[in-house]
Amino acid sequence: MRQPTITQLIMAFTLATTASAFFRLPCKSPLVVERADPVISPGKISGHVHSIMGGNGFGFEMDYASTQLSTCSSCTVTQDMSNYWVPTLYYKAENGSFISVGQNGGATIYYLQRSDPTDANYPHIEAFPEGFRMVAGDPMLRSYSDTNEQNAITFACLGTNTPETNGFPNIKCPDGLRVQVFFPSCWNGVDLDSANHKSHMAYPSGSDHGSCPGNFTRLVSIFYEVIWNTPDFDGLWYGDSQPFLLSSGDQTGYGYHGDFVNGWNVSTLQAAVDNCTNLSGVIEECPYFDFITDTAAQACVIPPSINEQVFGVMPNLPGCNVVQNGPAISEAQSKCEAPTQIGPFQLPYVDLTSSKGFAYVGCGSDPGGQPRTLLGVQANNATGMTVEYCVDYCVSRGFSVAGLEFSSQCFCDNSIPADRAPIPSLEPMCSAVGNCAMPCSGDSKEVCGGASLISLYQKCKGNGSPCENIHLPIINGSMSTGSTSKSPVHLQGLSSSAEPSSSALTSATSSSSVLPTEESTPATSSPFSTTSAETTPLVATSTLLTTTSISSAGYDVDTNGQSPSSTYHNHHHTHSHRARVGIQGYPTAVTA
Ligand SMILES: *[C@@H]1O[C@H](CO)[C@@H](O)[C@H](O)[C@H]1NC(C)=O
Ligand SMILES: *[C@@H]1O[C@H](CO)[C@@H](O)[C@H](O)[C@H]1NC(C)=O
Ligand SMILES: *[C@@H]1O[C@H](CO)[C@@H](O)[C@H](O)[C@H]1NC(C)=O
Ligand SMILES: *[C@@H]1O[C@H](CO)[C@@H](O)[C@H](O)[C@H]1NC(C)=O
Ligand SMILES: *[C@@H]1O[C@H](CO)[C@@H](O)[C@H](O)[C@H]1NC(C)=O
Ligand SMILES: *[C@@H]1O[C@H](CO)[C@@H](O)[C@H](O)[C@H]1NC(C)=O
Ligand SMILES: *[C@@H]1O[C@H](CO)[C@@H](O)[C@H](O)[C@H]1NC(C)=O
Repeated sequence: MRQPTITQLIMAFTLATTASAFFRLPCKSPLVVERADPVISPGKISGHVHSIMGGNGFGFEMDYASTQLSTCSSCTVTQDMSNYWVPTLYYKAENGSFISVGQNGGATIYYLQRSDPTDANYPHIEAFPEGFRMVAGDPMLRSYSDTNEQNAITFACLGTNTPETNGFPNIKCPDGLRVQVFFPSCWNGVDLDSANHKSHMAYPSGSDHGSCPGNFTRLVSIFYEVIWNTPDFDGLWYGDSQPFLLSSGDQTGYGYHGDFVNGWNVSTLQAAVDNCTNLSGVIEECPYFDFITDTAAQACVIPPSINEQVFGVMPNLPGCNVVQNGPAISEAQSKCEAPTQIGPFQLPYVDLTSSKGFAYVGCGSDPGGQPRTLLGVQANNATGMTVEYCVDYCVSRGFSVAGLEFSSQCFCDNSIPADRAPIPSLEPMCSAVGNCAMPCSGDSKEVCGGASLISLYQKCKGNGSPCENIHLPIINGSMSTGSTSKSPVHLQGLSSSAEPSSSALTSATSSSSVLPTEESTPATSSPFSTTSAETTPLVATSTLLTTTSISSAGYDVDTNGQSPSSTYHNHHHTHSHRARVGIQGYPTAVTA
């Protein structure tokens, strides 16, 4: 479908009915990036890496009660402790290495009040019940067929006027690659989940709009957008095909998918679904929600508990996924030497309390375009930086605070400015682990800060007071309360070992009527016809978001138009006030 003009968009908004009301929930950063998927692989390591957003009650095995144990979320509404996840994006280098692609913020989750006059309870739209979960898309797919499920997954090449595609676009995207999943909104009204995590749900006739099959009832529609910093790799394309792939080894993109585990206060979500029907999408206009700050949301992370590298340059994809581009359905991945056991939390610090008398005080900030957080001395070591090296360096120069940043940088001082200190004192609700997650250049098992984020260590007082690392308030959301059994709603045909089979997926999707493909939708259709009045707002909101989400993540606010990485390197020399934070600073080819 051709992208509508701004005038068309404005007209579509103006004329839209409440059927196209929506609100956008910002998730400011990933909660954790690891091979976890408590829906498809409960209690086990997932086959591939996911970027997981939402409440810190997340665990490898979790239920609604786990979500409600959360003390923070990486999304900003306090009444929502849901989890939202998608596969992580990687770059495949010409020499065979894989490099993680930076995620621009976390995700934007659209909640859309879409219904249809043929709905069983029209115009009623229901909030997700407690214990509800679902999956959209199929990681095994490597080819396109014209199903509602596949049409619900789209790639928007930001900064171009090209149509959205169902797989990776084979062109560079100047403003990043936004990958989008529209979830099914028709519910069988009974089951919170199903064996394939899909068949309790169905797509409406138009995939993102239209009538539900049979007597299915309407739930609020959700739509995920995640933006990847693919321009960091613009200088590193080679051959005839685009160089990106999903964590599952999928270079086609057809295996993209999304998972949702409901963690809402259901009555709050219902009130919002019923009454927050402004057409602006601005979630702050909804009076039922309370918000945490962006900083608190960004600081809400949990440490991974699988002992493998997921960021930076790697010889294999995590989990040793091999590149499989089909067109046949993907085979199960080989496991090579990838971990098969969930381990203890991989704490984001090295314990130097007894060896060096230094304690980890947390992940602080070092915003671009402002004076450094630690102003003593600085050492860079592109290949040999470790926490021990930095602490020794600072001690040798007579300093009592050491900070590591961006994998290879070490800073020293004798105090930490309060406004750059780790979050807990400022935001009691958030877990304060922070987003320091970059492997050290000299030891990929150690963490050396992030982009504009600094891993801080401080000399212990020694006057008889204990030398202790900061206590990280980690919630382990592993299912322990078993409260879903109280629910009157059943889990349809659920067995914990059930994996979706391709035949189940086919039958689940083939029962719904078929969406016209993007190509077959007449480009000239009036935005005011019934069909396009429903579809256009989605395109419109997505398109409009191109500007807003990128700005809010701080990229195009940058005055000198540099890539995030180069901006970072030069931030002492610019007066850029790009919003700090939120940008996961993974090592990229640009910085390598
Ligand atoms: C492969 O190429 C990437 C990107 O240029 C580079 O970062 C990486 O170090 C290379 N790996 C090896 C093993 O040479
Ligand atoms: C919908 O219909 C099917 C069979 O036609 C029935 O089993 C199911 O209970 C119905 N669901 C609802 C929500 O009425
Ligand atoms: C959900 O929110 C409502 C309205 O704020 C509140 O009264 C209720 O206690 C909350 N429910 C739970 C389970 O927290
Ligand atoms: C939503 O609006 C309706 C109609 O104005 C009102 O009756 C209802 O109480 C509202 N719901 C909530 C949760 O305030
Ligand atoms: C709609 O937006 C206005 C502000 O633009 C706000 O005052 C009002 O509360 C909003 N109403 C709803 C139902 O969201
Ligand atoms: C979380 O709790 C479960 C159940 O108590 C335990 O088996 C698991 O090891 C814990 N996970 C971590 C990472 O500590
Ligand atoms: C980099 O760090 C390593 C130790 O990890 C050290 O041996 C080496 O001398 C350092 N290089 C520079 C240039 O400081």
